[in-house]
Amino acid sequence: MAGWEAVCRVGEIPEGEGRTFRIRGLEVAVFNDGGRFSAILDRCPHAGGSLGSGWVEDGTAVCPLHYWRFRLDDGRCVAGGGGGVPGFDCEVRDGRVWLST
Ligand code: FES
Repeated sequence: MAGWEAVCRVGEIPEGEGRTFRIRGLEVAVFNDGGRFSAILDRCPHAGGSLGSGWVEDGTAVCPLHYWRFRLDDGRCVAGGGGGVPGFDCEVRDGRVWLST
């Protein structure tokens, strides 16, 4: 059932980095882009890399395996093989990061 869930405190994801959380059976990568938090599916469509283990560059998440890049806004691939990954609603409330799946 869809709904909002708190996954971490804002301080747990340093600026420019990502972290992976398991929520309702999905692995979701959450990124901190200068204090703005975004969430996309963790699994890179190229070869299954964990996007949450990557980093932020110019509003995109960079896959740490072969450097495909995905827009933080909507998960669209902008450098690599095309396509993309699903994005999730993400917001900060009371110092915590909340995701909607
Ligand atoms: S697995 Fe992500 S770019 Fe290859």
